[in-house]
Amino acid sequence: MGNKNPSILRYAKASLIVRETDWEKILDFALLNKVDIAFIGPDPVLATPLVDSLAEKGIPVASPSKDAARIETDKIFMRNLLQKHGVPGGVENKNFTSEQECKEWISTFGKGFVVKPRGLTGGKGVRVMGDHFSSWQEGLSYAIDLIKKDGSVLIEEKLVGEEFSLQAFSDGTSLTGMPLAQDYKRAYEGDTGPNTGGMGSITDHDHLLPFVNRKSRDDAFNILKQASSALRTEGFPFKGIMYGQFMLTLSGVKLIEINARFADPEGINVLSIMNDNLLDIMFEIANGNLRSRVQFMKKATVLRYIVPVGYGSQPKPGKLMIDPNNKDDTKMYYAAVNGTLSSVDMTGSRSLAIVGIGSSIPEAASKVDSAASLVHGDYYIRRDIGTEEMLARKAASFRN
Ligand code: AMP
Ligand code: GLY
Repeated sequence: MGNKNPSILRYAKASLIVRETDWEKILDFALLNKVDIAFIGPDPVLATPLVDSLAEKGIPVASPSKDAARIETDKIFMRNLLQKHGVPGGVENKNFTSEQECKEWISTFGKGFVVKPRGLTGGKGVRVMGDHFSSWQEGLSYAIDLIKKDGSVLIEEKLVGEEFSLQAFSDGTSLTGMPLAQDYKRAYEGDTGPNTGGMGSITDHDHLLPFVNRKSRDDAFNILKQASSALRTEGFPFKGIMYGQFMLTLSGVKLIEINARFADPEGINVLSIMNDNLLDIMFEIANGNLRSRVQFMKKATVLRYIVPVGYGSQPKPGKLMIDPNNKDDTKMYYAAVNGTLSSVDMTGSRSLAIVGIGSSIPEAASKVDSAASLVHGDYYIRRDIGTEEMLARKAASFRN
């Protein structure tokens, strides 16, 4: 890991503090410690040769090869693959290497569009018309910057609707789904302010969402299944976690993107209510004999991140004092912090995830409120995530 996370350290027999993309050092560490199985968390690592190198050395890995991970690490590869194999849920899109062609296309497109860097940007590189820029000229100028920097850019039609996440375990052949989740990326309450890595997320007791029914969930799962089968056909079977970000639009479920790892924070919601042993599942992924069902409690979850004041623009990291949390229905997960379980130094990134588990989303949210009172110091947390008011506001906007 990149920092001394006290909560991970307490479970670790050995540890290495290293830049997460320093894959050769991580490989040496894995060999030295004779690890039984490897699982990769963060996306930048999936773009390194680590997974392939571990597999070559005979270490079972429950994560995708570098080629299979291109489904996340190369957005142009993803759109082309899905188009080639006729996977549903696609959006109008085009990639450009020429500034002139890009200008001609954008200036006559006539609809809202989104400008996407080809590679990984930590959730902060995508710019959406109406949110991040207001005219096609402004969008074009960002697209041209990206062509200069990366050699290419992806332009997509702008989708309008309700976003949701569906994660699935995949052993290269079959997929097993997890509960749906919704992620709140904006820094401030009421979904305003800059986009962040994610301020919180929710799941519902029935594993659907208040705005997403069984049919839409099944449509999303089918898109993931077909994407996985397209990868297999191309010779890159996908092992690990497939995490689809979808938009429920007036013309059905559309795919925003597929990631090759757990969603952050939505992965924490679902793992908090999982009733099966994650390690057993990892071995099944690595061995290609994944079970067809994974058990999750029929409970709702709400997660909110404690972050430094100013997170999203100019974070001012301070210190947090944390009282012990002995409740089964709230969990605290340490993120980008250094220190001990009771006292941590924040970094510029997210500090502590608090998860509440309840019979409904608002009940789970109220559990987060009580657990947050165990954390002392200068910090920011979005208190609206999962509340009755927020769900009502969303329901109203959905009807419009
Ligand atoms: P990404 O970094 O690709 O996860 O994108 C960040 C966010 O940009 C997504 O969560 C969406 O809110 C938004 N976004 C990406 N693609 C589109 C699209 N085609 N239409 C509308 N919004 C999009
Ligand atoms: N939930 C956003 C992400 O993990 O990319």
